[in-house]
Amino acid sequence: MKIAITGATGQLGRLVVSKLKQKVSPENIVALVRSPQKAADLGVEARECDYNLPESLDSALDGINTLLLISGSEVGKRATQHSNVIEAAKKAGVQWIVYTSLLHADTSSLSLAVEHRATEAALQEASIPFTLLRNGWYTENYTGSIPGAIAGGAFLGSAGEGKISAAARADFADAAVVVLTSAGHKGKIYELAGDEFFTLSDLAAEISRQTGKDIPYKNLPETDYAALLTSFGLPEGLAQAIAGWDVAASNGALLDEGRQLSALIGRPTTPLSEVVATALKGA
Ligand SMILES: NC(=O)c1ccc[n+]([C@@H]2O[C@H](COP(=O)([O-])OP(=O)(O)OC[C@H]3O[C@@H](n4cnc5c(N)ncnc54)[C@H](OP(=O)(O)O)[C@@H]3O)[C@@H](O)[C@H]2O)c1
Repeated sequence: MKIAITGATGQLGRLVVSKLKQKVSPENIVALVRSPQKAADLGVEARECDYNLPESLDSALDGINTLLLISGSEVGKRATQHSNVIEAAKKAGVQWIVYTSLLHADTSSLSLAVEHRATEAALQEASIPFTLLRNGWYTENYTGSIPGAIAGGAFLGSAGEGKISAAARADFADAAVVVLTSAGHKGKIYELAGDEFFTLSDLAAEISRQTGKDIPYKNLPETDYAALLTSFGLPEGLAQAIAGWDVAASNGALLDEGRQLSALIGRPTTPLSEVVATALKGA
């Protein structure tokens, strides 16, 4: 019974492979990756797989029973890319697809939801049993900005006092592993989010507490924040998208109080303080 994981050389995929190896024999795990040389340290079979190249997908999925489809990172191309994978999975006789979607993808106001909705629809049409892991925001999305906040003396964003139920990437990886290795998940939709929400003001206060520096949260209008991100070197489209996601967060798009993630993984989600501490160690 082979389990394949796409995006296995990405940050989430690496965590999943390493945690899955603790529960499943490595011979039954296949990493589906764009660059097999990047996968040499994973300790499992690596097969070449590019979502853009349908011909690579047929051989990649040969003999696979269960597929964890980790959503791709090329925003705008993903609906087609994911459809390519689902089509190939159908041809290859894959019996179950677990897909990393987006929190409340069916109703979310986040621009990212459009491609996730399309993929969820493609899964429905393919008539392969599937499970949706509708992942909320990684706390690490914000902790990457800590060095800049320390240097600039403020944490910047456009999320206002929006409540954000983020969780650590490792929490989402644990959820994927639980689902892949236990029964009763086919056909289920999980809304996965952190146990305790925080606002960006809370995050700035936690950074201030741990560094002993005064780093307030400074809320900016969407266009100012996008312009600032562009001035830091981000492509304009991405800068606008990030500012837009913050605005969606200010309206509650990243809030979920159902605690399905901690229920699934059998432990509380990683607290904000711990993710901040880990980030500060690496800063
Ligand atoms: N919940 C959140 O807060 C959040 C935040 C960011 C992203 N995401 C979504 O969750 C996914 C996993 O997160 P992450 O942190 O692991 O992201 P990541 O580190 O950027 O990993 C993305 C993975 O997708 C693979 N990939 C991209 N395009 C591909 C293609 N055309 N064919 C095959 N593989 C392709 C990449 O391959 P390479 O290793 O070869 O680059 C990489 O392994 C992301 O891709 C994105 O869809 C969620």
